[in-house]
Amino acid sequence: MDKLIISGGKPLQGTVAISGMKNAALPILFACALNKEPCILHNVPAVKDIETTVGILSEMGVTIRYLSPTSLEINGKDFKPCTSPNTLVRRIRASSYLMGVELGLSGQTRIAFPGGCDFDGGRPLDLHMKGFEAMGAEMRTYHDGYTGEAPDGLFGAKIYLNKASVGATVNLMLAATLTPGHTVISNAAREPHIVSLARFLNECGANILNAGTSEIQIEGVASLHGCTYRIPPDMIEAGTYMAIAAATGGPITLTGVYPEHLQATIDKLCEMGAHITANNALETVTVSAGDQLTAIELETQPYPGFPTDMQPQFAALMAVAKGTSIIRENIINGRFAYLEQLKRTGVKTIGEAKDTACIEGVERLTAANMTATDLRGGAAMVMVALMAEGISEIRNVHLIDRGYDDIEGKLSALGADIIRRSEDAPSAPAGSSPLMTSSLPTP
Ligand code: EPZ
Repeated sequence: MDKLIISGGKPLQGTVAISGMKNAALPILFACALNKEPCILHNVPAVKDIETTVGILSEMGVTIRYLSPTSLEINGKDFKPCTSPNTLVRRIRASSYLMGVELGLSGQTRIAFPGGCDFDGGRPLDLHMKGFEAMGAEMRTYHDGYTGEAPDGLFGAKIYLNKASVGATVNLMLAATLTPGHTVISNAAREPHIVSLARFLNECGANILNAGTSEIQIEGVASLHGCTYRIPPDMIEAGTYMAIAAATGGPITLTGVYPEHLQATIDKLCEMGAHITANNALETVTVSAGDQLTAIELETQPYPGFPTDMQPQFAALMAVAKGTSIIRENIINGRFAYLEQLKRTGVKTIGEAKDTACIEGVERLTAANMTATDLRGGAAMVMVALMAEGISEIRNVHLIDRGYDDIEGKLSALGADIIRRSEDAPSAPAGSSPLMTSSLPTP
């Protein structure tokens, strides 16, 4: 396993190209298994969760050919339902999408418990199950996974989600695409990745209406055909680099972004005092820090509200903002495990409950060694390490690699002093004065 070694306190500026959206690419890759004709996907991010998904689908008979590091040709003709490899399935949350695909294709599913970032409150799949049951499947939990059976095949149904769950919305869209009849998903998630999945499936001949609203209508079709599709930019990777610009000075210009997906993040960064210009036509956003970040109150909400996946990165900004900030986490229970690690750099909380944190800004942070707890918490650790004077190390980088394409390469190009080493490589004493990169141990 790897660690990142960061010598912080350097102003960052320049241009960074944003990769394709992980959480759109994942369901779209699984959706390719519904299709007997080849599809070509462009702008697929080169991140670990995609690599795992490619591994799962390949083991299940899907042929996947890399045309470039970010373009894939995927042929689902020989996909074999109910043959998923347990070890890989347990690595990612998105492997739950196999249930929708398998039930929609064959009326049967069997998968190990999906993994993914582990939050204190757990990540139940009850809404997925209820939806499949409404469509005629009998779902069961066995000792290490799920099975489902719809002996007569699924049928179209009206499904109400009592939470606007991203995963349940995706899974039910996948299940309904080839299912005879009309399916309605009410209180559906409205995230851009849902819209992107619907666009992709419709390009392949599906009949999905109103994705992006809270009532999605799906008329099942008999089969899909091949298409070429470009994955939209990752709004969370973009938000993270915007927060990094606010933390380290900037200006940093992000290219290949859709500013309309970033409104909630832009709004909160401006409230904290950052300067932002967005250009829809050029698909760019430029961010620079103001004189002094100021405290804010933040509440996570389903899209178009403030995303839970940006909450830890904002905690890192609040750590140096003037005054006391408050975060209320409404989407994912227990998403504050990362705070204990941030505190090693001097981040000060003055109150924490399961879903609330109060952070009092301090003047400066000090370098420290940290261990990533999850993907976005890991990104927050990178941010505090970039702000702190001296050398910090972040272990468990594989969690950050799940969703950030070449984070050390992109940050180095912005002027950061950051390198990746094996966790076995000797550590510099935490907080020691900045070493030149060249004096760090070589791989
Ligand atoms: C997706 O997870 C994303 N993952 C997450 O991104 C993101 O944090 C989350 O949506 C919220 O935006 C992928 O797209 C692969 P949910 P998902 O179903 O689908 C409750 C990242 O950092 N719930 O909207 O798991 C439960 O409390 C990751 O990129 C139920 O109670 O999100 C859950 O925590 C992490 N029952 C919350 O809703 C259910 O059946 C949000 O779940 C489903 C959800």
